[in-house]
Amino acid sequence: MRIAIFGSGYVGLVTGACLADVGHDVICVDVDADKITRLNNGKVPIHEPGLETLIHHNLKTGRLRFTTDAARAVNFGLLQFIAVGTPPDEDGSADLHHVLEVARTIGMHMQDYKIVVNKSTVPVGTAEKVQYAIAETLSARGVEQDFDVCSNPEFLKEGAAIDDFSKGARIVVGTDSERARQAMQECYAPYSRLQNKLIFMDIRSAELTKYAANAMLATKISFINEIAHLAERLGADIEQIRHGIGSDPRIGYHFIYPGCGYGGSCFPKDVQALTRTSRDLGHESHLLKAVETINQRQKGQLFHKLSQAFDHDLRGKNIALWGLAFKPNTDDMREAPSRTLMEALWAAGARVQAYDPEASEECRRLYGQRDDLTLSRRRDEALEGADALVICTEWKEFRAVDFEALRQTLYHPVLVDGRNLFDPDTVKAAGLRYYAIGRGD
Ligand code: UGA
Repeated sequence: MRIAIFGSGYVGLVTGACLADVGHDVICVDVDADKITRLNNGKVPIHEPGLETLIHHNLKTGRLRFTTDAARAVNFGLLQFIAVGTPPDEDGSADLHHVLEVARTIGMHMQDYKIVVNKSTVPVGTAEKVQYAIAETLSARGVEQDFDVCSNPEFLKEGAAIDDFSKGARIVVGTDSERARQAMQECYAPYSRLQNKLIFMDIRSAELTKYAANAMLATKISFINEIAHLAERLGADIEQIRHGIGSDPRIGYHFIYPGCGYGGSCFPKDVQALTRTSRDLGHESHLLKAVETINQRQKGQLFHKLSQAFDHDLRGKNIALWGLAFKPNTDDMREAPSRTLMEALWAAGARVQAYDPEASEECRRLYGQRDDLTLSRRRDEALEGADALVICTEWKEFRAVDFEALRQTLYHPVLVDGRNLFDPDTVKAAGLRYYAIGRGD
């Protein structure tokens, strides 16, 4: 099939590369000419395991190409995917500016029947707005042309997106057109593992499914963090509780890992957008508001624990920080707990010596050169001259630590672990003070 994808960001690139890899002919469009030139030269702007290899391979096969030429893209493909960003507005609702801009562009260049597929995370009712924007543009051109709009939300996790695309739990397609339904079936037919996982539904339900999935996962995380809070004060251990409840299949082990709060570009944005949608309907979502509030509190926990360890005076302290990305296997620092921590440390007069296997460059881009931030190239380099160590992200390389050597390196024997990576008794036996999440101090 011939497929055009608008937006060469995270979702657009993964979708384009994966669809080209199974034999479809794909053209990816973006308004950023620099990005397109770099992509055509095989330079991938984001870090996602396996993505670069897929892009290189499919550029070579000729099944994947990148362009800024929207007219060419519209006339290239039957399927027109919209995969542009929907950043939050000031009030938390999703900004549809880019989505509707693409819709108008498609309307501007459409010559024959097209199926416009929305992959961006958008509020319920957006497909109708896309439909309207295209129809309006066509009518301004004086053209009468049939087309369909459907919703096909993505459920990709950063760091595992390629696998998620081809072996995910389900593919949700919202459509009211038989023709679009058949085309979407054909588009995903090469993914044999997903064949019985295609779920067709009406468009509004598909749009809401995406928000409901992310809100549910965020709720699970805030729930376990709330219990961790209680466990800490009651002298219980959240890790034992996690095993105790996760073993019940109705609850399950997924997404009940306590930590320093969820981050990333999706959960915070989507929970806020759904809260906003709810408010617009005259219904205050107490649950979603609590999910967000608990998460904000959780992001402040690491600073709180450090501050406690140093009698609320962190002035002049050097804090080693392992892990800047919001989760492992990505260089993404959007809404990362590490940012809340660093900013609080700087405000308290402390210095940060940070190490992350992938996100150093992103950190420099966000915060620039500053005297109170050193970015180390190795994890042990970040410990040199440090008063204490805090772990924000559970990268694999942080899991094996010589606690004896760590105690000797740090000026103060303080280890704050935002991801519960270690056995408290082992850490404490080495003479370190261990502050984890929900495990007593
Ligand atoms: C999330 C969803 O998992 C995807 O299904 C969805 O497609 C995506 O958002 C999106 O809307 O595009 P992602 O943001 O990449 O994916 O990251 P997750 O792996 O879900 O992790 C989100 C945050 O939750 C991370 O900060 C992680 O550390 C935290 N987390 C996750 C916990 O604190 N505890 C857990 O048990 C699981």
